[in-house]
Amino acid sequence: MEYHDLLYTEGDINLGEHRKNWREQLSEKTKNLLAEDEKYFLHQSMSTPCLDVIDKCEGSYLINTEGKKYLDFHGNSVHQVGFKNPYVIEKVKQQLDELTFCTRRYTNQPAVELAKTLIESTQSKLDKVLFAPGGATVNGMALKLARAVTERFKVITFWDAFHGASLDTISVGGEAIFRKNMGPTMPGVERVPPPNTYRGILGESEENYLSYLEYVIEKEGDIGTFIAEPIRNTDVIIPSKSFWKRVREICDRNEIFLIFDEIPTGLGRTGRLFVYEHYDIVPDAVTLGKGLGGGLFPLAAMLTHSKYDKVSDISIGHYTHEKNPVAATAGKAVLDYISDENLLEKVSEHEKHITETFRIWEEKYSLIGDIRGLGLLWAIELVEDRTTKEKAFDIAERIMYGCLENGVNFKVSQGNILQLSPPLTITHEELQFGLDVIEKQIKKYS
Ligand SMILES: Cc1ncc(COP(=O)(O)O)c(C=O)c1O
Repeated sequence: MEYHDLLYTEGDINLGEHRKNWREQLSEKTKNLLAEDEKYFLHQSMSTPCLDVIDKCEGSYLINTEGKKYLDFHGNSVHQVGFKNPYVIEKVKQQLDELTFCTRRYTNQPAVELAKTLIESTQSKLDKVLFAPGGATVNGMALKLARAVTERFKVITFWDAFHGASLDTISVGGEAIFRKNMGPTMPGVERVPPPNTYRGILGESEENYLSYLEYVIEKEGDIGTFIAEPIRNTDVIIPSKSFWKRVREICDRNEIFLIFDEIPTGLGRTGRLFVYEHYDIVPDAVTLGKGLGGGLFPLAAMLTHSKYDKVSDISIGHYTHEKNPVAATAGKAVLDYISDENLLEKVSEHEKHITETFRIWEEKYSLIGDIRGLGLLWAIELVEDRTTKEKAFDIAERIMYGCLENGVNFKVSQGNILQLSPPLTITHEELQFGLDVIEKQIKKYS
């Protein structure tokens, strides 16, 4: 694999010319802090060198050391309720005066309350839960549970998938950049192409795709688990309702444990609390993370059915912070806030506005090859030419830095996709400001 291909797998490039130019215009104080960051942190792809130094975060914004505000359409998918949400902060402050940790073999009220609230929010379709301090960790737990329940170790996943950066989750991931030089990973992983109808190598025919998938599963014969993001976050691939219904049927027929990884997309981002609700099916396990800790604490959850609660002789989780009362308080406050503030309805309102805006953009700018999204999760795919669909790598980067200069932050995925995930608490005015900045840049390069 070429270095160039590796660079474009997941995020924007952080070693290119445009990043160098961006860094030139930063203040001396910021440059010095960035240099210190590089001095002390082990360098790794997509994280080093950093873009800027952030001093504060509030609502929809990151604020740098000079007081410059970035409207954050990335937020690492933790900002469902906005940054430093006052309601969540207040609840956490109160909890800090009570119980700050809970030693294993004891439980505590905040952890039990979060478990109950999460389960009730699934209308008890998924009625058992385990918490852990991170997304990769809960995916690892779900994979372990699936092995324990099915007594089979083989897993089917999508190429290009990301389920975490730990050794078990890169084993079921589909991005080469995470597996490079990592030696043997978990055996028994069968990858199939992602159901991408814009670029999919299996074309636009869902029926062909599903027949292929079924063929792989039935030929292999002993697959135990299917892990997937029901809607892929980075490039926003949204399969149809019939797609996931058919996959559920195929899994049922082959007794395959279906895991939906909703770590970046759950908790209201798509306009429903859980992504699976869009598909009228219930997976065997759902994993949540990111925004569950309110952007304050690393907190993740695996939800499953009580029919699988039959492995009490195996440690599925066993993580030090799995019942952390402060993290659980933040999680409960996030769920209460989403419900009390009717955030799901607000997301639907924003969705209508964005859909209409993007319809007009698609007509106006031939640079846009495809726009996909729902709720507050969108991808704008930039192409050199609509017929050849050649990716507009350089323009995408220029647009990203142009937007950063004008105070809007987002990630470029796969080198040419502007991925937009605003906080769910965003106001109409903030959203419009962000859209105006992005449109101006797209217009400039069209
Ligand atoms: C789909 C998906 N799964 C899992 C993870 C891993 O979560 P964490 O970084 O908390 O381990 C991520 C993180 O970006 C993700 O996007």
